[in-house]
Amino acid sequence: MRTPIIAGNWKMNKTPAEAKVLVNELKPLVKDANATVVICVPYVDLCTALKETEGTNIHVGAQNVHFMESGAYTGEISAAMLKEMGVEYVIIGHSERRQYFGETDATVNLRTLAAVKAGLTPIICVGERKEEREAGYTNALVEYQTLIALNGLTDEEIKNVVIAYEPVWAIGTGLTATDEQANETIGVIREAIQRKYGKEVADTVRIQYGGSMNPKNVKGLMAQPEIDGGLIGGASLKAPDFSLVVNYDK
Ligand code: 13P
Repeated sequence: MRTPIIAGNWKMNKTPAEAKVLVNELKPLVKDANATVVICVPYVDLCTALKETEGTNIHVGAQNVHFMESGAYTGEISAAMLKEMGVEYVIIGHSERRQYFGETDATVNLRTLAAVKAGLTPIICVGERKEEREAGYTNALVEYQTLIALNGLTDEEIKNVVIAYEPVWAIGTGLTATDEQANETIGVIREAIQRKYGKEVADTVRIQYGGSMNPKNVKGLMAQPEIDGGLIGGASLKAPDFSLVVNYDK
C-alpha cells in the first residue's frame, strides 16, 4: 500500500565537509532499503548532499522554505531555488521552528502551498507539547495543525504530502511515545484527513512518527498499521544507526 518513508533531519549539524563523509558512509548501508530514504540537511550542505547522492536511492530535502516567490526577505530561501538545485523534500513547521523562530500554523500553511506549487514534497510536522497531552488536547491539536497546514491544496496534492507526527516531549529527550500512543495519534490525524478529503486521500498520505526514534524502537513503531515511517533526528547523524532504522524490516 503506502511505501514507508524514513527521513533524517540533521538539524543544525554537519559542515559541508562533514556532510560529504556522512553521505558516503551512508550510501552502501542504505542502498537496498525498501523504504524511501531522505536526508534533510542544512541549506549549506544541499549542494554536497545532492552531488554525493547522485545516482543513489537517497533523496535530499531542506529543513525550511520561505513562502514568498522572491523579493526583499533577507536570509530566506525560496521553493524555486530549492527545486532548481534538485532538492525534492522540505521539512515544514518543525516544532523547533515553532518554538524558537515564531512559526505559526498560518505560516506552515503558506510554506506548504509554496513548496507544493514549486514541485517539492513537504514533510509537515505536527505534535503536542507535554502539557497539552496532559490536559487532554492532543487529538484536537494535531487535527487542527494538520488541517490548517493542508488548507488550499487539492486532493491530488495532499496525496503526495508527508506528515510527521512528532510529540514535542519526545524530541531529543530519549522519551518515545509508546507504539500504541504513536499509532493512535497518527490514526486521529488520518481520520481528520478522511473526514475532510475522503478515504482515498487519507489512505494514500504517508504519516511518519518522529521523536527519539532509533534502531532499538523502530521495529515496534513500524509494526503499527498507521505508522508509515520516521523522521529521525539524533540517530540520523551516525551512518550505522540511521541505516539500522532505514533497514528496520531486514
Ligand atoms: P530526535 O530523533 O533527536 O528525537 O529528533 C526528532 C526530530 O525532531 C526529527 O525532526
